[in-house]
Amino acid sequence: MRMVTSVAGMQRLAQRWQRQGVRVGLVPTMGCLHAGHLSLVAEARRRVGARGVVVVSVYVNPTQFAPHEDLAKYPRTLAEDRRQCRAAGVDVLFVPGDAEMYPRPDGAAFSTYVVEEGVSQGLEGAARPRHFRGVTTVVAKLFHLVLPAVAVFGAKDYQQAAVVQRMVRDLAFPVEVVVAPTVREPDGLALSSRNQYLEPEERRQATVLWRCLQWAREQVRAHPHGIPVSVLRAAIKRRVGQVPAGRLDYVAWFDPETLAPVKVVKRGTQMALAVFVGRTRLIDNARME
Ligand code: PAJ
Repeated sequence: MRMVTSVAGMQRLAQRWQRQGVRVGLVPTMGCLHAGHLSLVAEARRRVGARGVVVVSVYVNPTQFAPHEDLAKYPRTLAEDRRQCRAAGVDVLFVPGDAEMYPRPDGAAFSTYVVEEGVSQGLEGAARPRHFRGVTTVVAKLFHLVLPAVAVFGAKDYQQAAVVQRMVRDLAFPVEVVVAPTVREPDGLALSSRNQYLEPEERRQATVLWRCLQWAREQVRAHPHGIPVSVLRAAIKRRVGQVPAGRLDYVAWFDPETLAPVKVVKRGTQMALAVFVGRTRLIDNARME
């Protein structure tokens, strides 16, 4: 496995692959890799085959964090990430530095962004203004540097995958975006680098997200003609409130394609929620089925 740290080096390598007709699969990450990330690596390998190359990028992207968020304390575990990537058969680990990704050689601030203005508006976009501007900008830049035929994202960040898909469609990036299922702990908690912040007692309470998703699914099954969002929202708020460390940030039900909010929840509606467990903000989502 090769490790590349410069933008110019990555671009040269990608251009060579392109000339040689090598199929490239990219898995963008912020590191602190876990089995969820590795499932994306396996999917990328399936898509590009043994003759293709799989690139994992590890970059904690400052522009997608708000000033009060966890950029400085976001876990950084490069030696361990490197070991996991090597074991997973990754060909290239791309680890650019901030000065490479957001250069200011003449002292002028980086000033070009990619902004999606539709599916990025509600949910995480409403809770975290400018978050998706940072995501689309860095993902667009990674696509230019790595020139992937396929890029794999996780359904764990449902809206993020939708925003990236929209950007790729609107700006005609020659990339196939694949969305792979959420990998969970045995008790249902979605794997996340942020789970590390949880104290043991909070970790036990963090299953509330999965329990809410499962409970809502049961309600939808029991009411085939649909249930008003207002009814479900009140119940979810109560359920999260029963967890000592839990505080509901939002819960939403929406069309899985357009992300437009619905008033009545039926089979096929997508549900997403964000919950503070202690000081840690966790998100999860599921299709109502
Ligand atoms: P990060 O949070 O490291 O996630 C990298 C990728 O792993 C994302 O596509 C995310 O959806 C996926 N992922 C995370 N947890 C998962 C799980 N439990 N199961 C399946 N996939 C999971 O998302 C980002 O980084 C950044 O926003 C990034 C896209 C890299 C841009 O900076």
